[in-house]
Amino acid sequence: MKDFAGRTAVITGAASGIGLALARRAARDGMNLVLADIDLPRLQAAAAELACPPDRVLARACDVSLEADVAALAEAAFGRFGAVHLLCNNAGVALTRLVREMSTADWEWVLGANLWSVIHGIRHFLPRMAAQDGESHVVNTASVAGLLSTPASAAYNVGKHGVVTLSETLYQELKAENSRVGVSLLCPAWVKTGINQAGRNRQARYGEVSPAGEMSRALEERIAKALESGRLSADDVADAVFAAVAEDRFYVIPHRKILEVVKRRCEDILEGRNPSPAW
Ligand SMILES: NC(=O)c1ccc[n+]([C@@H]2O[C@H](COP(=O)([O-])OP(=O)(O)OC[C@H]3O[C@@H](n4cnc5c(N)ncnc54)[C@H](O)[C@@H]3O)[C@@H](O)[C@H]2O)c1
Repeated sequence: MKDFAGRTAVITGAASGIGLALARRAARDGMNLVLADIDLPRLQAAAAELACPPDRVLARACDVSLEADVAALAEAAFGRFGAVHLLCNNAGVALTRLVREMSTADWEWVLGANLWSVIHGIRHFLPRMAAQDGESHVVNTASVAGLLSTPASAAYNVGKHGVVTLSETLYQELKAENSRVGVSLLCPAWVKTGINQAGRNRQARYGEVSPAGEMSRALEERIAKALESGRLSADDVADAVFAAVAEDRFYVIPHRKILEVVKRRCEDILEGRNPSPAW
């Protein structure tokens, strides 16, 4: 999809970080915006700052882990603008805990926001996008965590690996059908955003996060530093996404150096070696 002006983008997790940068870029390209986030006050404040007339923006509270919320978001988006041309399944949370430290609620929180969110988004938007006139595109935000297996991030890794294979499978199916819906998969490495404070929006139904042991705390610190020193900004990542959509390119991996680590993992598999350290 090469033309964005006058078309409609739906972006989840748009109150902060990469989602907000995607919204800024979509607004600059003249798109109508449907912005969704679990944090409505922050979303509304962000929407008010965008270079987009208020009648071209719909900002909605939505918990993407809940199918009914995503279904209502789709109703609202198609109801308001008649079509959806760009769907960014982007909302997500992160948690740094060893596998043995995590509660079932921790798993459910992370997989709800990171994997079920994308399943719900595809289920409730894709059939209508495929049925409408002209081209459209789905962008699923995974992570390099979907291509690697770093310690103390099992739920995050499982969710993101799920988004990778879901997106690759969807791509194959849509190509086989000559669909006018394209798919891209975003796999960033470290980007300075609000992800390190993801617990700020943890839903009450999941209770308190499980306590972190010594190794999890050390890795939390290391991750905080890596995020802080991330060389690409959220705006750089959004530009990479729009370039990929315009070129109908599937893999969007803006941090190129990380591919060395991905390559090592693939070689471990091909050569029957035990897993090398992921970082
Ligand atoms: N920042 C990074 O280094 C990085 C790297 C790889 C992938 N990602 C992915 O990028 C995406 C965006 O994260 P970010 O880094 O911009 O973080 P962020 O915390 O700045 O933004 C995430 C947004 O998602 C929202 N959100 C969380 N749970 C939600 C839910 N259940 N329903 C609706 N909204 C919800 C939050 O309120 C927040 O506004 C995530 O999927 C994340 O996993 C981030």
